Amino acid sequence: MHTQLEKALVNYDRIMGKTESLYEELEPLKDVAFRFQETMMIYKAAIREVRTKLEVLNDEFQVRSKRNPIRYIKQRVKHPNSILEKLHRRGFDISLDSMIKNLNDIAGIRVVCAYEKDIYAIAQMLTKQDDVKLLLTKDYIKNPKPNGYRSLHLIVTVPIFLSDEKKLMKVEIQLRTIAMDSWASLEHQIRYK
Ligand code: GTP
Ligand code: MG
Repeated sequence: MHTQLEKALVNYDRIMGKTESLYEELEPLKDVAFRFQETMMIYKAAIREVRTKLEVLNDEFQVRSKRNPIRYIKQRVKHPNSILEKLHRRGFDISLDSMIKNLNDIAGIRVVCAYEKDIYAIAQMLTKQDDVKLLLTKDYIKNPKPNGYRSLHLIVTVPIFLSDEKKLMKVEIQLRTIAMDSWASLEHQIRYK
């Protein structure tokens, strides 16, 4: 069964006027498409919040210790097709509520650190901030995956203040060293080729 959200995301670019004109039969999907767009805007805001927090910590380190524990930060929101694919794969409902509830990695940020000890220091300093709530930790550094994958994964929520409400948004944070990141990128390339 194809839900409203599924039809809207499959035709997303057309509905949002990025490609050709809107077919009449897509008109009813506008509402769900706009609500999806708004949701993704809030996830992007959550990534910015987390990124700013990380940059502040890095700047403080720089001033105090003349050293940058964070080498670089990458970020992304999950592509609509990947959202649909994951909801299908895991057997969840295809709806906005379902994706918000069931997917932890719609907003993702990857923090590449100089040293392993910096990863734990940054994770600790971030998660003890009183507006950051830690939902889940997966430590693939202490317990690497069977294939050798290593990274510290945190799922947190941060509050996003909108015109008339506050929303707690989930963000997946992956912390790695440069070596762990190179390995993961290579392994990812090999797996998808
Ligand atoms: P996904 O459905 O892949 O998101 O996994 P999950 O929900 O079980 O969570 P997990 O914390 O295990 O993995 C989340 C993310 O970590 C993945 O989307 C990848 O970005 C990364 N990751 C996990 N395992 C591997 C791996 O073996 N190789 C690489 N390259 N990346 C991995
Ligand atoms: Mg993922």
